[in-house]
Amino acid sequence: MGSDGSFFSTSMLLVSRYCRASMAQAGLFITFEGSEGCGKSTQIRRLSEFLRSLEREVVVLREPGGTPIGESIRNLLQFDKSAAAMTPEAELLLFAASRAQLVRELIRPALARGAVVLCDRFLDSTTVYQGVARALDSSEVRAINDFAVGETLPDLTLLLDLDAAEGRRRAAMRKGPADRMEQEGESFYEAVREGYLKLAAEDSGRFVLIDASSDEEGVESAIRNVLQERFQISGKGEAYGIH
Ligand code: TMP
Repeated sequence: MGSDGSFFSTSMLLVSRYCRASMAQAGLFITFEGSEGCGKSTQIRRLSEFLRSLEREVVVLREPGGTPIGESIRNLLQFDKSAAAMTPEAELLLFAASRAQLVRELIRPALARGAVVLCDRFLDSTTVYQGVARALDSSEVRAINDFAVGETLPDLTLLLDLDAAEGRRRAAMRKGPADRMEQEGESFYEAVREGYLKLAAEDSGRFVLIDASSDEEGVESAIRNVLQERFQISGKGEAYGIH
């Protein structure tokens, strides 16, 4: 029975719960994680082209950023001179603020429309960079992550794993001036890699580890295999089942 005890209000309550559940499940949310230089952007581009060729709506996002507010926060975090004095606690909250905006402004509406959302980094970056490499208290990081994302969690997280030194070498080759995070030393990036591997091992239901040391085609093919196994998504005309 509903709160007023009537059959009608009980039914309406059930219908509204069902609608919310199906709306929340309409799309597919895939996040890409890994250290600098692991090839996330390239693989996101390749996967988005593949999914669009199957006539899916694909929304590509990045963190921090993705919204006007998020892009301002990204600029502050990465390039603003004042950020040299930023404390790890302020850094954590800024990443969370960018994410809170992205989730509500773009991710949830896209998933409700049935889109595939591909996000370059999400809450696991905070768990690893701030919680492990910056050594902030892990339960506090978790609480702030939970507050920022609510119930919006990835269906799948692809961890592109690469030797830390090799990742730094690749990142240095491809980019212009190093941003604030990229000025961190070798041990920071070793901690990032170890943190990711531990996280992936703890949540093997959501994470899939991808060896990012092979060439672009090899990594792309590994990712396609995961999509085929997990969601029956393939380019060969099979059922394109999402949830
Ligand atoms: P990138 O995605 O262009 O590599 O830049 C994002 C940088 O910010 C990268 O060094 C990882 C870092 N970062 C965090 O430290 N915490 C976070 O929560 C996120 C999303 C990124």
